[in-house]
Amino acid sequence: MPFAEKHAPNTLNQVAGNGDAIAKLMKFGAEAHKGSPPRPLLIYGPSGTGKTAAAHALAYSNGFETIELNASDYRDSATLEATLIPASRSAGLFTRKLLIILDEIDERSDKFDAGAESVINRLVKESRHPIIFIANDYWDRKITFLRDVVDRLEFKRLNRTEILNVLKTVLHKEGKELDEKMLEELASRSNGDIRGALNDLELMVGGLPELMENIGMRDRKLEVYGVLDRILLTKNFDSPRNAYMNTDLDGDMLMNWIDENIPNRYTWKSDIMNAYSHLAKASFFLGQASRKSYYGYLRYSSVLMSSGVSLSANGQIAYVKNYAFPSNIRQLSKTKSGRRALAGTVTKLVYALHAHKKDIFNGYLQLFKQMIKEAEKQYGEKEAVGYFARTYGLEEDDVKAIVASG
Ligand SMILES: Nc1ncnc2c1ncn2[C@@H]1O[C@H](COP(=O)(O)OP(=O)(O)OP(=O)(O)O)[C@@H](O)[C@H]1O
Ligand SMILES: [Mg+2]
Repeated sequence: MPFAEKHAPNTLNQVAGNGDAIAKLMKFGAEAHKGSPPRPLLIYGPSGTGKTAAAHALAYSNGFETIELNASDYRDSATLEATLIPASRSAGLFTRKLLIILDEIDERSDKFDAGAESVINRLVKESRHPIIFIANDYWDRKITFLRDVVDRLEFKRLNRTEILNVLKTVLHKEGKELDEKMLEELASRSNGDIRGALNDLELMVGGLPELMENIGMRDRKLEVYGVLDRILLTKNFDSPRNAYMNTDLDGDMLMNWIDENIPNRYTWKSDIMNAYSHLAKASFFLGQASRKSYYGYLRYSSVLMSSGVSLSANGQIAYVKNYAFPSNIRQLSKTKSGRRALAGTVTKLVYALHAHKKDIFNGYLQLFKQMIKEAEKQYGEKEAVGYFARTYGLEEDDVKAIVASG
């Protein structure tokens, strides 16, 4: 079970953040015990802020059974009527109180038919049991009809400290450890989303396949920083590999990022050397895969550049905050035409110099430009250009493009 579900709060006191809203929910719970149900609540706010968790914690701490509708029940008014109305009248099994929870009402109301609204209005009027609606957007036009009959209760994004505390509690319960700085980084990046933060945490301590599916379902893509974190900070096999598998990022592109950032994170020379050696092998297989159109090689390149680089780290890691943008891409994107003009030239130079494109862009081109210019001064343009073209397997136009480059 994913961390987020496994560590769901049982009581309202355990729900993180949103203190005012939680206090109101406690009051709502107390009133619901007294007799006629209080005015229904519409809990609203951003995803992952604990709305669903809080509604269930409310039920649990008050000993309420819950009635919920699953997605398909929301479709037509007949089904709504058949499930909700009798439930709202029932006394509840073992005479316990019921809490009716209509979660994600804004999304589900897309599927409402003409009669659905009036069934819900009737439910609100006639129910003997307390009702909680949950939505993301209070102002969603599809739920305008609710606004007159509910009290609104906003859930806000959690602050960094609140998220950090949840992460620490869960980590402790799991009996795992993680560097404090890394926890802080996760908390800052969560943007107040508890569920997201817990998913990230789980990935960090060795992601489960189950979780990957879960995240896939929520259509949440791990961005390049997330993948880099898992590769360069975890010293782990599974976590970086899973992160890599779960991303849409292009292999070449990611390799550029890793390439650029290994020396920013790793502090031991031997670690840096090992990491680059894995990256070089990954690069080899990536190249083979496209050259031979045998994509089975991608298996090796992916594991080498993720887990391989990650396991290269033995020593201390520097938790610098910002990742450096790959310099070769930065270089390439400066001028598009310059890039197009030089791309072919650089590829030819790769063979002549046995050097990486990146190094050619960053160093050799400048050097060549100097050399050619010097030679032009001494021997004249025609001689110089011809000489460089012959020596390095280039066309004369290539040599001229180098001289003209910025
Ligand atoms: N102390 C805690 N407080 C709140 N939630 C917690 C806590 N510990 C773990 N969680 C988990 O964090 C997640 C919070 O997300 P929840 O599903 O409640 O968000 P939501 O506001 O309903 O989001 P959505 O709008 O996407 O449905 C839950 O999976 C919950 O179990
Ligand atoms: Mg929810």
